[in-house]
Amino acid sequence: MSQTVWLIPLKSLDSDARDIKLGDVAALNLGPGQEKFVGEPLKMTLLALEDESRLPYVIEANGEVVGVLTLQFGAASLAGWPDDDSVWLLRGFLIDRKRQGEGLGSSAAAAAVDEARKVTVRNGGGQAGVVLSVNEGNSTGLAAYARAGFVDRGRYLGGNSGPQRIMYRSF
Ligand SMILES: CC(C)(COP(=O)(O)OP(=O)(O)OC[C@H]1O[C@@H](n2cnc3c(N)ncnc32)[C@H](O)[C@@H]1OP(=O)(O)O)[C@@H](O)C(=O)NCCC(=O)NCCS
Repeated sequence: MSQTVWLIPLKSLDSDARDIKLGDVAALNLGPGQEKFVGEPLKMTLLALEDESRLPYVIEANGEVVGVLTLQFGAASLAGWPDDDSVWLLRGFLIDRKRQGEGLGSSAAAAAVDEARKVTVRNGGGQAGVVLSVNEGNSTGLAAYARAGFVDRGRYLGGNSGPQRIMYRSF
């Protein structure tokens, strides 16, 4: 089922509004065993706010913060892509455990591609799409990305969290 989600760019908010959203991010939780697939949401978001190459977003549905994701430029090789700059990296992606399985993850992944395309046009960047890596054992993640139009571009054995699939969607 396709769900309507909104991506709120945290770097575009004033500090008061951002602090309110960060409070919501602090309340997000992973399900049991999911910490091996992604980092801690508040920590990842604060790191992204400090890094000029990362654009952190909160994912909202019906006015409620349900998850986070980050788009990063110049870092695609971290997901096994052959170069850093030709595509965006999608990372730090999660939906709160109480809201998983409603279609929010696949909608948010599709929205992230749309957002990356808009930022590319706005900034005159040359990126052609979005790449990510997902653990081969993460069946929900694999299904969510496939539903969002990402295609499998092979195996990635880099990093320290076990074999990953490289998934890509062009604009
Ligand atoms: C991966 C994640 C973002 C997906 O978000 P979600 O909102 O749960 O996903 P959706 O509801 O859009 O479901 C996507 C697909 O997974 C399936 N799915 C949902 N829950 C599932 C479960 N517990 N087991 C297996 N498949 C499941 C859905 O049926 C759907 O498949 P379909 O399109 O073939 O019907 C979310 O589960 C999550 O935050 N997981 C923990 C962190 C993580 O793994 N992040 C990704 C790192 S790359």
